[in-house]
Amino acid sequence: MAHIISTINLKGGVGKTTITAALAEIIAGDYGKRVLIIDLDPQTNLTVYMIGVVRWRELNESGRTLATLFRDAVDPRPAGSLFDVRAALQRDVSPVRSVTQVDLLASSLDLIDLQDRLLSPSGGFFYNPVELLHRQLEKISADYDYILIDCPPNLSMLTLNGVRISDGYIIPTIPDFMSTYGIPQVRSRIQRFATNVGLDIPAFGLVVSKYRANASLHQQMADYLARSGRDAGLHVFESRIPESADIAAAAEFNDWGTLRQRYGNKGQYDALAALTAEFMNVVEGAR
Ligand SMILES: Nc1ncnc2c1ncn2[C@@H]1O[C@H](COP(=O)(O)OP(=O)(O)O)[C@@H](O)[C@H]1O
Ligand SMILES: [Mg+2]
Repeated sequence: MAHIISTINLKGGVGKTTITAALAEIIAGDYGKRVLIIDLDPQTNLTVYMIGVVRWRELNESGRTLATLFRDAVDPRPAGSLFDVRAALQRDVSPVRSVTQVDLLASSLDLIDLQDRLLSPSGGFFYNPVELLHRQLEKISADYDYILIDCPPNLSMLTLNGVRISDGYIIPTIPDFMSTYGIPQVRSRIQRFATNVGLDIPAFGLVVSKYRANASLHQQMADYLARSGRDAGLHVFESRIPESADIAAAAEFNDWGTLRQRYGNKGQYDALAALTAEFMNVVEGAR
């Protein structure tokens, strides 16, 4: 059975997408696992990160993004559903040549409007809006070792669709006061949701991202998070992801030879690889 993990934070810009992409590519590239990434964020960053905007547009025009899945539910058609999960699946999407076995379910800007309508279906059609992704994933999840879900920076119905099928979630955060402010809310909201649907969906841990090791505020906050996490039963991953121009440049849609070239050869790739090892350890130990 695939390990399914969501990446969540109510804040944008904290490294959710970057870390999801790196985990997926390293798990596939260095460990030979089959990985599916699911982009639930209407901003489509992960999608464009992997396949570029031209190919995204083609997918969007031919109904092969997750917008079609959710549109089927709010605009039911007599002819039945339009979304075909196997047709939507994009295979071997990593632009890193040495990485195969990362597949993608693409997001769409059209989800911006759809996410508001998911709570108010137009007359007479009954569905449970939290189960929409679950019903599709059942058809394909056995094909993967890991499924990583990049969530939007909110707890909308889209995010809950991802949380619903997850074994647990990780919370990337920049180690400063503003970025860490909403973390207890994320945890308690997901805990309440999990209780409501009768599932156990733990936080697998906090990932310190955009870490500036020479900034004493970052150091102090990261150390504080590790200590207070221990008290609050929240694991904090030991590998901190440095703030780095190379990691930022990895987001450019480009042709990369190796993971080291994509993420940076001055400790950046190594930090991401160490995080990945820790992550797999926690996730596989949780089962
Ligand atoms: N470790 C890092 N060092 C430098 N820039 C980063 C790092 N991680 C992410 N970024 C950049 O910061 C911006 C936000 O990151 P992203 O992963 O998209 O965050 P989120 O998904 O939480 O909004 C992007 O431009 C990304 O390239
Ligand atoms: Mg993002």
